[in-house]
Amino acid sequence: MDKKQEYFDSIGDNWDRDLTAEDLERLAHIIDKVNIPQGVSVCDLGCGTGVLFDLLRRRVGETGYIVGVDFAPQVAHRAQRNFPFHNIGVVEADACCMPFKDNTFDLVISFAAFAHFSHKDETIRQANKILKPGGKIIIIHLVGRTELSRQHHQVGGPIDRDELPDAHELEEMFNRGHFSRYELTDKKDLYLATGFKE
Ligand SMILES: C[S@@+](CC[C@H](N)C(=O)[O-])C[C@H]1O[C@@H](n2cnc3c(N)ncnc32)[C@H](O)[C@@H]1O
Repeated sequence: MDKKQEYFDSIGDNWDRDLTAEDLERLAHIIDKVNIPQGVSVCDLGCGTGVLFDLLRRRVGETGYIVGVDFAPQVAHRAQRNFPFHNIGVVEADACCMPFKDNTFDLVISFAAFAHFSHKDETIRQANKILKPGGKIIIIHLVGRTELSRQHHQVGGPIDRDELPDAHELEEMFNRGHFSRYELTDKKDLYLATGFKE
């Protein structure tokens, strides 16, 4: 196991507790705007212990399904244990190397995780492959890029240098990953990136 996996396994539960009611409300509001229809399939990258699962489950309904992906074994195990529903699955894998067939998901979503991915280019490419045509990837952090880098630097250790791509880097990443269009909001209290697959 690498240092980051060990790190996230060791803080899995604390991270959940640090999310405030306001954070959860903002998150719900963002997810509402994404407009997720009933019956769709969603992949949650860096799902942690499943903070997004409940929000997503209410939207996809009984006929849709959610698959969380996390590379920290204990975190992935906890996510699966917390949500023993027939339409929620958790896979222990690195986001850059997921064991899914092409054109599987309508939506790939990643909350508070993308900055930590060590292989962002490959992750974006993989996300494009596993998305169905017309699908999209949404990357959410509840702080902007500059503030997030400051926070990670302050925490130090294996996440010391974990940062988000700036607008130019993101555009290049999405281009290389074959997304046809992208949108980015990067302000003090929000980083929201969306990539659209044609
Ligand atoms: C800050 S936590 C956020 C977890 C969850 N999205 C939430 O909001 O509660 C970041 C998560 O990303 C996972 N992670 C980091 N790098 C990863 C990678 N390369 N592949 C898969 N998961 C990764 C960590 O194990 C951790 O659970």
